[in-house]
Amino acid sequence: MVPSRSLSSLLALPALAFLSLSASALPHARTASSTAVLELAVRMNSYGMKSIVAADRARIETLQARGSPSVDTTNTGVAYTANISVGYPETYYTFLLDTGSSNTWIGTNKAYQKTSSSYDTGGTFKVGYGDEKNPKYASGKEYLDYVTLNSDLIIYNQSIGVASSDPGLGDVDGLLGLGPVDLTQGTVSNANKVPTVMDNLYAQGYIDSEVLGVFFAPASSDDSTGELTFGGYDASKITGDINYVSITSTSPANTYWGIDQSISYGSTSILNQTAGIVDTGSTLILIASDAFSTYQSATGGTPDESTGLLKISSDQYDKLSSLYFTTGGVTYELTPNAQIWPRSLNTAINGTTDGIYLIVADNGSPSGSGLDFINGYCFLERFYSVYDTTNSRVGLATTDYTFATTN
Ligand SMILES: *[C@@H]1O[C@H](CO)[C@@H](O)[C@H](O)[C@H]1NC(C)=O
Ligand SMILES: *[C@@H]1O[C@H](CO)[C@@H](O)[C@H](O)[C@H]1NC(C)=O
Ligand SMILES: *[C@@H]1O[C@H](CO)[C@@H](O)[C@H](O)[C@H]1NC(C)=O
Ligand SMILES: *[C@@H]1O[C@H](CO)[C@@H](O)[C@H](O)[C@H]1NC(C)=O
Repeated sequence: MVPSRSLSSLLALPALAFLSLSASALPHARTASSTAVLELAVRMNSYGMKSIVAADRARIETLQARGSPSVDTTNTGVAYTANISVGYPETYYTFLLDTGSSNTWIGTNKAYQKTSSSYDTGGTFKVGYGDEKNPKYASGKEYLDYVTLNSDLIIYNQSIGVASSDPGLGDVDGLLGLGPVDLTQGTVSNANKVPTVMDNLYAQGYIDSEVLGVFFAPASSDDSTGELTFGGYDASKITGDINYVSITSTSPANTYWGIDQSISYGSTSILNQTAGIVDTGSTLILIASDAFSTYQSATGGTPDESTGLLKISSDQYDKLSSLYFTTGGVTYELTPNAQIWPRSLNTAINGTTDGIYLIVADNGSPSGSGLDFINGYCFLERFYSVYDTTNSRVGLATTDYTFATTN
């Protein structure tokens, strides 16, 4: 069965009404606010891709080599977009939000409209995405312009690339880079680094600290949506405290949002404390090959060719234990229901409607690689996450969905 191209629009999830910010007049006044919330549309793709496992594994290989992962939206499992305007008067574009890269640019799907606020820097930009063997580039001219989030939060002089070629954004109009500013080094001809959207929100006084809070409801739940909070976290979305853990010192995990974590399946230890990452750009939970084989024998899952995932029977599902992730002295429980792919979305990943597929997959290398796990979307739809640049730490908290049985 070939997944149809309309899938991504079918699964494009309804947007959440954003929390209102105090309004500001265009174009001079600024919103004085310690946080700003941006609504997200979350979409699952499978068009043209062999399997979500293959897409996630290609991503981890790129991360292990310290590259910027592919942003080809037709070839990733999960993508987040937001409706953001550029210029004054405003033109709206659908931006892909990417924590794995840091430049912001507009692609070829919708032409950049020059307005009174456009400033041509005379420079050019070029950013490579994907793996070294098959890199794809976004390149073109570099401008400064207004970027407006949620209609009333105007970032001045945001560095924006206007691409004459892009690496396959499909029907998405641009990319908004949420990664660290160091990843912009060498990407713009007449600058060393260019400030990211996050840097400008901080420098222009909109937020008190460079902190990003991320909420995703499960893709299969009734209120399937996401929300980014700039400058903090949304207390209404969490059910306990945020617990923070420092960025790991282990390379290459420390280049990204890397933490030290151990994992147990029930009372069986499957991965002793080791470094890995929390990553909004991966779909699954990936663990080192040795940990994965312990998990596979403990669950009784068998590799399924159609999806690339482990498949279990309903008897095995009934006997599934929780997975426990311990980081920063706190243990997060991923329930049996949270360990399976949402059955209502089985056909999106080339599975059968009644199949039960596990969302824990093999990262393709033995533990000790310096990037032994990825807590991807399937983890982050159960736990709120906070990316704190100012204090070099990651925070996690339980949500209403931690123990939900949406899958
Ligand atoms: C983006 O927001 C603007 C202003 O609210 C609206 O006119 C436009 O239709 C939205 N675009 C999408 C793709 O939702
Ligand atoms: C934006 O950049 C231009 C050109 O460098 C400068 O003249 C202007 O003052 C800047 N505006 C703001 C609001 O920072
Ligand atoms: C974790 O470390 C303990 C103590 O060294 C060891 O007994 C156990 O086998 C290790 N677990 C794994 C999954 O490697
Ligand atoms: C879907 O599964 C079938 C076997 O069940 C396989 O032949 C085919 O390659 C799979 N398609 C994709 C896109 O993975």
